[in-house]
Amino acid sequence: VNLGFLSGTGIEGRGLALRFGSAGVPVVIGSRSEERARTAAASCNELLGTEAVSGCSNTEMLGRCPIVFLTVPFANGVDAVEACRPDLRPDHILVDVTVPMRFAGGRPEFVELEAGSSAEEIARHVPEGVAVVGAFKTIPAHVLAEVGTELRCDVFVCGDRESAREEVIRAVGAIPHLRALDAGPLVMARALERMTWLAVSLNRRYKRKGARFAVQGL
Ligand SMILES: NC(=O)c1ccc[n+]([C@@H]2O[C@H](COP(=O)([O-])OP(=O)(O)OC[C@H]3O[C@@H](n4cnc5c(N)ncnc54)[C@H](OP(=O)(O)O)[C@@H]3O)[C@@H](O)[C@H]2O)c1
Repeated sequence: VNLGFLSGTGIEGRGLALRFGSAGVPVVIGSRSEERARTAAASCNELLGTEAVSGCSNTEMLGRCPIVFLTVPFANGVDAVEACRPDLRPDHILVDVTVPMRFAGGRPEFVELEAGSSAEEIARHVPEGVAVVGAFKTIPAHVLAEVGTELRCDVFVCGDRESAREEVIRAVGAIPHLRALDAGPLVMARALERMTWLAVSLNRRYKRKGARFAVQGL
């Protein structure tokens, strides 16, 4: 199936598109601007040397893709979902990758949300029937984009609908050296989003960029 990226023109959307595209999965980058989407898709295809990535408006992308990644800044997640409401169908799976963090004087700060997590906030705003799944929150975007680098880590997948978690886990299966772990209900996004805060803080302390998680004992 096609994987879509809602406003996938940033580093996270393009990173995911490159990773899945390099694994041979057809991916569609959406944008509020068709032009930006086409430019982002063309840059991905050039890097990959394939035609795996296409670019179009968010509306067209939603019409073509049953699994859609929400790849906008956390502060714009609700607005982005509201803007796409007419195009979201009850059978869509919306994969939320957003993390409520900001940088104050270069220091990563976690933003406490009333909903408990960014994923739960998004889930409050999707039309009835749309399944929200949290995933890829803990993997640095630039590592995703470096398709020559083996990820060798886990991706945590959470969500309240088991069948939707399973579909996302199946999709992740296309990417080599990446293990998808079923993290259970959407409330686990509270832990995952804070893990990203930890990873970003570790990167900063150790002057690295690629900190990510691989669970031992599973
Ligand atoms: N960077 C990482 O390592 C990393 C890791 C895990 C998760 N994430 C998450 O990934 C998400 C995307 O990060 P990013 O760095 O790729 O973001 P970004 O480049 O700042 O923005 C991504 C896209 O979102 C759209 N956008 C920007 N402002 C918007 C607004 N006001 N309303 C609606 N859409 C808007 C734009 O797309 P169009 O204008 O083309 O529509 C933009 O290209 C964030 O939530 C972040 O927490 C990032």
